[in-house]
Amino acid sequence: MSKISAAITAVGAYVPEYVLTNQILETMVDTNDEWITTRTGIKERRILKKEGEGTSYLAIKAAEDLIAKKDIDPKDIELVIVATATPDMKAASTAAYTAAKIGATNAFSFDMDAACSSFLYGMSVASSFIESGRYKNVLLIGADKMSSLINYKDRATCIIFGDGAGAVLFEPTTEDVGLKDEYLRSDGTGREFLQATYGGSVHPLTHEALDNGGHYAFQEGRTVFKNAVFNMADATVKVLERNNLDKDSVDWLAAHQANKRIIDATAQRIDLAEEKVMMNIHKYGNTTSATLPLLLNDYESQLKKGDNIIFAAFGGGFNWGAIYLKWAYNSKD
Ligand code: UT7
Repeated sequence: MSKISAAITAVGAYVPEYVLTNQILETMVDTNDEWITTRTGIKERRILKKEGEGTSYLAIKAAEDLIAKKDIDPKDIELVIVATATPDMKAASTAAYTAAKIGATNAFSFDMDAACSSFLYGMSVASSFIESGRYKNVLLIGADKMSSLINYKDRATCIIFGDGAGAVLFEPTTEDVGLKDEYLRSDGTGREFLQATYGGSVHPLTHEALDNGGHYAFQEGRTVFKNAVFNMADATVKVLERNNLDKDSVDWLAAHQANKRIIDATAQRIDLAEEKVMMNIHKYGNTTSATLPLLLNDYESQLKKGDNIIFAAFGGGFNWGAIYLKWAYNSKD
């Protein structure tokens, strides 16, 4: 019997309407468009302003976009995974609510969090369910309302993050496409450099913490930057070497959109031509779990069946890695 591989067979996405530009940020904190552009590559990001709506709102919209494009019956979806660092609530699954709202009533569902690597790890998890032969339709959604974690008085973080969501469908295939290899790693000693300290079980929220903004995301940018550059490039090189790939046989690099300089450094490490590097950080900033599927959505029309795509990410934890996937369809299929 031929080996079952997990292929991405559809993509959907959603970003909120409100555009937070560098110019608007200049009126909020001591920063400027020139600094943000040269240090990060970001020009604008989207923010979900809707009162009473959280990450599930973004996830549902992205999933509905995929369902409409692929014209599938949501009742055929067997598993919904929401990769997110900003769940709707502390003790109720965002994925369960999302699945119910999109009509995936025959599915089970769960959230998974690996900070900015949530979607990358989610690709591994979703694929495993397919490769086992036990499931045939797994919906993986990467969604984050990062604005719910951000202090818009802290210029070290508020210029970076944005809100958004993207979704992919994994299905089984016996063709020579789908997820081929992965190199995933974690090092929890790095958590002090990127965290939202208060509101979890180590430091439950107190009035004092709230007054001091202890519930917001904190980042020691330089340390995270150095670790991201080294580890994302290292994981990418390992996956290339293991699969006898080089700059000519790689068609695309889909790297987590945290900082254009980190993405450029990864591409340079493997000497990849600029036109093969997917980039949309200028439009959305760092949407955490949504960056990779938002890239796929933006580049979907350019992807061809058999294209070799390297996914790479690095994020809080630290968590990082790279995945090699062969694209499974031409967009007009
Ligand atoms: O997605 C999860 C993983 N996260 C990442 O991968 C993010 C990694 N880190 C980064 O992308 C970068 O470290 C940042 C974009 C966060 C910061 O860029 P940087 O080049 O590392 O800047 P820095 O923190 O070293 O600061 C350089 C200077 C400092 O001034 P002095 O001390 O040199 O006078 C900062 O105070 O830039 C100043 N600065 C700013 N100036 C204008 C810091 N933030 C700003 C700002 N606007 N927003």
